Amino acid sequence: MDVCVIGTGYVGLVTGTCLAWLGRSVTCVDIDERKIAMLGAGRATIYEPGLEPLLAQSIQRGNLRFTTDLAEAVRTAEVIFIAVGTPPQESGKPDLSAVEAVARAIGRALDGVRRRIVVNKSTVPIGSGNWVEMLIKEGLGDSPAFRREMANAAHGRAASTHSRPLPGAKADEFFLVASNPEFLREGTAIQDTLYPDRIVIGAADDYAAERLRALYEPIIEQTFTAPPSAPRPADCTAVPVVTTDLASAEMIKYAANAFLATKISFANEIANICERVGADIREVVRGFGLDNRIGPRFLNAGVGWGGSCFGKDVAALIDIANEYGYEPPMLRATVEVNRRQRQVAVQKLQETLKIIKGRTIGLLGLAFKPETDDLRDAPALEIAGQLLAMGARVRAYDPVAMEACRAQHPELKIEYADAPVLLAEECDALIVVTEWDEFRRLDLDAIGAVMNTRVIIDGRNILDRAAVEAAGFKYRGIGR
Ligand SMILES: NC(=O)c1ccc[n+]([C@@H]2O[C@H](COP(=O)([O-])OP(=O)(O)OC[C@H]3O[C@@H](n4cnc5c(N)ncnc54)[C@H](O)[C@@H]3O)[C@@H](O)[C@H]2O)c1
Repeated sequence: MDVCVIGTGYVGLVTGTCLAWLGRSVTCVDIDERKIAMLGAGRATIYEPGLEPLLAQSIQRGNLRFTTDLAEAVRTAEVIFIAVGTPPQESGKPDLSAVEAVARAIGRALDGVRRRIVVNKSTVPIGSGNWVEMLIKEGLGDSPAFRREMANAAHGRAASTHSRPLPGAKADEFFLVASNPEFLREGTAIQDTLYPDRIVIGAADDYAAERLRALYEPIIEQTFTAPPSAPRPADCTAVPVVTTDLASAEMIKYAANAFLATKISFANEIANICERVGADIREVVRGFGLDNRIGPRFLNAGVGWGGSCFGKDVAALIDIANEYGYEPPMLRATVEVNRRQRQVAVQKLQETLKIIKGRTIGLLGLAFKPETDDLRDAPALEIAGQLLAMGARVRAYDPVAMEACRAQHPELKIEYADAPVLLAEECDALIVVTEWDEFRRLDLDAIGAVMNTRVIIDGRNILDRAAVEAAGFKYRGIGR
């Protein structure tokens, strides 16, 4: 099955590469020429474990290509994924300008040779399936092939000389729109794509749902050969498919992210109470997370959630609710708890050091979570900004996200260090901001020896408090 994926960011690139691994013939499109050149040469443009070998092998086998020519890529495909960014705006509404541009361009490129399925994989507000359909139709009005079909039909001539004539040349015989929200997590994106918890397909038409189901068949039935870099989990034998209407599919994505963000905000709220009453959030979560109605995941207290999706998607869901005259107090609380949690690391630093002005603070981690170089809405950026505004000198170390931070945030006057022990030099305190595995095994003696004062704020509760204190540090965790 021929596939076109438009947008080669975290979602588009991983989707395209994994579908190519399954044997689909995939063309990935982006407007960023630099990205397309790099990807075409088999080099990943993002840090994502296991991605580069799959990319290189699929290119070598000849079933993964990269281009900036959207029209040509659309013409060669049956299934067309829209996977462009939908970044947040001040109002809470996502910026849909890229989706709009792409939908119109798809319409202009459709030629009627076969019926295309256009799939919204980008996270988009409820009703976007219908909106995208409208935009494609508008673009289709400018499509030479469509105009020809319409003119022919009007003159009562045989509609087409194509291999599959389109009687009446109606728009829905050129294309159908479906929704297929994405649930991958950066850092485990390949595993999440090949072995997902579920696949959600939203469509108004059975044919569109059937074709998408056929596209994903090897994943649904788990019949593909697992790549060496992403072995199949022992318990993954088949993947459930949720086939539903467009609006419900769009809502499932928002509900999932809102729930996960709420879980973390809930844990942070309990952590703040734990701290006051002398309980330890880690023990508390261990105790209540074992209840299988609750589950232990997404309950780690820390400096708050971030990333490209949670903040944007919860804000969008609040905006959608408001648009329909509903005020969602729980979603607002999820956001508010997180906003406050972003202040906690600096508050603890103030309590411990008293004066922040003139101090040197080292940030362990910049990425919003481990195993990614993604800095979108990363707590580290906010913490660095707060400290700089307070007159501190800020240093940082991250195993993969430093280059991205330098390039994307020149406004943050951060000094970068190449290793934790180099970061620690002259620091008055360190803050663990991202729970990279290597921070669990810090050489505390070497680090302590080069610091001005031995203070660690463990913003992710990953360090062994007793070991840190035994090495002569003042330790402050979250909710402990
Ligand atoms: N990143 C995640 O973990 C994740 C998970 C699930 C869903 N999503 C959703 O998927 C969508 C994509 O997210 P992402 O993180 O991959 O975004 P991204 O910003 O990493 O990538 C978007 C890509 O689209 C390209 N693009 C923009 N306009 C274009 C155009 N007109 N034509 C062709 N390409 C264009 C950009 O150059 C970029 O490469 C968003 O809606 C997001 O909310 C993201």
